[in-house]
Amino acid sequence: MASPRFFSLLSIVTISLLLTTTHTSSRSLQTPHKTTVLNVVSSLQQTQHILSLHSSLPTTTTTRPEFESKSIPLFLNSSSPLSLQLHSRDTLLPSNHKDYKTLVLSRLARDSSRVAAIAARVRFSVDRSDFKPDGETRYNAEDLTSPVVSGASQGSGEYFSRIGVGTPAKEMYMVLDTGSDVNWIQCKPCSDCYEQSDPVFDPAASSTYKPLTCAAPQCALLEVSTCRSSKCLYQVSYGDGSFTVGEYATDTVTFGDSGKVNDVALGCGHDNEGLFVGAAGLLGLGGGALSMPNQINATSFSYCLVDRDSGNSSSLDFNSVRIGDGDATAPIVRNSKVKTFYYLGLSGFSVGGEKVSIPSSVFEVNDATGEGGVIMDCGTAVTRLQTEAYNSLRDAFVRLAADFKNATSSISLFDTCYDFSDMSSVKVPTVAFHFTGGKSIDLPAKNYLIPIDDAGTFCFAFAPTSSSLSIIGNVQQQSTRITYDLANKLVGLSPNQC
Ligand SMILES: *[C@@H]1O[C@H](CO)[C@@H](O)[C@H](O)[C@H]1NC(C)=O
Ligand SMILES: *[C@@H]1O[C@H](CO)[C@@H](O)[C@H](O)[C@H]1NC(C)=O
Ligand SMILES: *[C@@H]1O[C@H](CO)[C@@H](O)[C@H](O)[C@H]1NC(C)=O
Ligand SMILES: *[C@@H]1O[C@H](CO)[C@@H](O)[C@H](O)[C@H]1NC(C)=O
Repeated sequence: MASPRFFSLLSIVTISLLLTTTHTSSRSLQTPHKTTVLNVVSSLQQTQHILSLHSSLPTTTTTRPEFESKSIPLFLNSSSPLSLQLHSRDTLLPSNHKDYKTLVLSRLARDSSRVAAIAARVRFSVDRSDFKPDGETRYNAEDLTSPVVSGASQGSGEYFSRIGVGTPAKEMYMVLDTGSDVNWIQCKPCSDCYEQSDPVFDPAASSTYKPLTCAAPQCALLEVSTCRSSKCLYQVSYGDGSFTVGEYATDTVTFGDSGKVNDVALGCGHDNEGLFVGAAGLLGLGGGALSMPNQINATSFSYCLVDRDSGNSSSLDFNSVRIGDGDATAPIVRNSKVKTFYYLGLSGFSVGGEKVSIPSSVFEVNDATGEGGVIMDCGTAVTRLQTEAYNSLRDAFVRLAADFKNATSSISLFDTCYDFSDMSSVKVPTVAFHFTGGKSIDLPAKNYLIPIDDAGTFCFAFAPTSSSLSIIGNVQQQSTRITYDLANKLVGLSPNQC
């Protein structure tokens, strides 16, 4: 059953503040520090646009493009590019927020749940890795301790792709999640299905659908599985009490008209409860064996998270690396205890062109415990840093932004907010990520100063976490193509490659 808060998932960061080079009534810092222009007017126009977009959308998506009945190549090896459209949730589903500030606050509350779920996921994986796997040790539904996986938990369902499942292919919207591995869709017969915009998948109508047996290797790779009538049952639970349970099966997956892959393992969920409303299921893009990239042996995948309120779509591409010579790259660091997440080699930050003093050990994975490190996550909105690192970054920013009008109080996650209501644009200190390996990227101003109301209050969009794990969130990734070059163990960050 859907409650209105499901629809608030749509809400999002805002942001479509365009960077411009016009300096009308902009205020300059009286310092030689490196600055970036924030277009305040454009940003505030977007806060209104996003609400009008919501109120004008139908409550269910009725126009869905169908595949044309042309022949789609069978994907045979990892040199074939596959491509899917990528949409922000706002372009598909309505929201019920009356003003921009409520929308932002509800989004930030969900974001906190997502971060808590990710921290719990790490704890679960670290604990599990203390087990000596003998091939027999398998969790089953009865002694389930509800592993908390990040998945689409609450705030994560922010970007969707459309894939085809079965033969003939039925198209459906899937939540993208770099924080989990198991792909699943809602399936008939539903003992409990939440509301989705496409018809619920009927395995009986697919000629290529095959349930997996308990002896199947894919079944053994599930964190939680059990055996009923020699069929493999899966369960994925999320930190907020939402979960999906059903038959683990294989079927053909079609990627638009770019190609199709036979025998992809996915959960056929007959009992699905939670906050996934709208999407038919979840596309796991994590680093574990059951994720989509690993099942199709992809050498890379990339996405560009479009500005949510632009109404634009982008693409999720497999096997086509588009990292330019000038683009920043970060090494992918493996955490032997947590295979799902993509850890990056982050060495630190600069603000206004000056390196912020943070011990680089703050960002390293502890090999012995599996703790610490920095992950890239498309489902977390606001970048979280260990408190010590956050304080140093914030202090560096505040020092260079000392002539800005402070907003009166802290808001939700944010303790550093400014009143830009009397400006049309403003030059702000440039914030850059620096990666181990020596590359760095200057963030667009709209990726770190976000409006939290429609009156001109902007907050510095980073937040502290008491966890040892830092997370690079999607506000900071916006309008940048993020390429996971799995073959070369690099993440590329390419500005304006949507
Ligand atoms: C991959 O498959 C394509 C056809 O789909 C074929 O042309 C190509 O030679 C194959 N490459 C390898 C390395 O097998
Ligand atoms: C992926 O690689 C495995 C092992 O080499 C192979 O069995 C499987 O068919 C490959 N899948 C695809 C879709 O290429
Ligand atoms: C949306 O896409 C159009 C066409 O590609 C582009 O010109 C425009 O800048 C995009 N808008 C945003 C906010 O990214
Ligand atoms: C805003 O607050 C910061 C930190 O408290 C302070 O350093 C700065 O001077 C204040 N700015 C103004 C214009 O009052």
